[in-house]
Amino acid sequence: MINLNWENKKDFIDNLNLNIDQFRNKFQNITFLLNNEKKISKIDNNNSSWNRKLFWGNNLEVLYYLSNFLKEKVDLVYIDPPFFSGTNYNIQINEQGDIYKDIAYNDKWNKDIESYLQMLYKRLFIIKNLLSDKGLIFIHLDWHANHYVKIILDDLFGVDNFINSIVWYYYNKYSAGKKHLPKAHDDILVYSKTKHYSLNEIRIPREKPIKQLKRININGTLKNFKDKNGKVVYRMVNDKKLDDVWKIPCLQPASKHWTGYPTQKHHRLIERIIKLGSDDESLVADFFCGSGTTLIEAEKLKRRWIGVDVSKYAIYIARKILLDYYTESKIDKHPILELYANLDDEKKEIINSNFFNKKLDMKRKN
Ligand SMILES: C[S@@+](CC[C@H](N)C(=O)[O-])C[C@H]1O[C@@H](n2cnc3c(N)ncnc32)[C@H](O)[C@@H]1O
Repeated sequence: MINLNWENKKDFIDNLNLNIDQFRNKFQNITFLLNNEKKISKIDNNNSSWNRKLFWGNNLEVLYYLSNFLKEKVDLVYIDPPFFSGTNYNIQINEQGDIYKDIAYNDKWNKDIESYLQMLYKRLFIIKNLLSDKGLIFIHLDWHANHYVKIILDDLFGVDNFINSIVWYYYNKYSAGKKHLPKAHDDILVYSKTKHYSLNEIRIPREKPIKQLKRININGTLKNFKDKNGKVVYRMVNDKKLDDVWKIPCLQPASKHWTGYPTQKHHRLIERIIKLGSDDESLVADFFCGSGTTLIEAEKLKRRWIGVDVSKYAIYIARKILLDYYTESKIDKHPILELYANLDDEKKEIINSNFFNKKLDMKRKN
């Protein structure tokens, strides 16, 4: 039995309800009108369909806010948080010929693993409350912190609710070093909220077809099938059940899906997670959504979605790829994408500078 403790853990839990209450009315709906005007209005939470909502802000605040409305309502969470890499991730922006760099997001912790883990713990604690009875969470990490986070997850979700540690083997990119083997995988930890979850079966093509004994189910037991002469029968099998090692490349700048956002994940990786852990109309949430890979894949797979990111560049890109998708796809009525934020002076200034409607190109070819 795991029982973790640290300073401030109790304070966070003791103040949780107070914070949830305080954030109930803190977010506003930002609507962009055709003439580049912005309309900032109160959110009608009672009338909300909880779909296509993009939150720009610190996800802890958003999670406090959502706790007022979405307790046990979210079916699938995928998060791809900073990995404790000690790096700042830059983005290059081309604003109509004027090229400049900025920090897209920050992953520097001064080697302070405690503050990193406390940051994640708070989010995971609230996310667990938002997950439905059959809900699943996929947490994307790598060697920097996955072992520490696994212990926190065992504590929060229970060792019995651990499902898989998926290895994403991205064979086309690795960090070489003289004193270690090239690092060429990330880890995606999967937990359920309860035992009432289900994983959809996914079959993937085999590299080479194999010859397999034909089997039949007799009263619940699999037996070898025999022909009328009593001989076992073979068949050629071209696919196999998806296991927990996924060979998918890192997205390359040459891809048409490339947005230029640092650490953007491959759409096939996220598509697989959504197909595995949710069904039509399920509510999918990504609280560190970056360039919106989860949101666009959820949209394509007809799931409902909520996305959150603190970076204005992430929100710019996610919003743009979704709006472009609505325009390009033959959907009868252009869906409404709602942008919510808890507007402080800095965000108001960014909104007033018309940032989200500027023509920015971030697709730097490395
Ligand atoms: C690894 S990236 C996610 C990349 C994303 N999966 C994609 O495919 O583009 C992590 C994201 O978490 C966001 N982030 C970090 N701390 C956050 C916080 N406290 N609240 C909201 N977003 C945060 C960063 O801005 C960054 O976009």
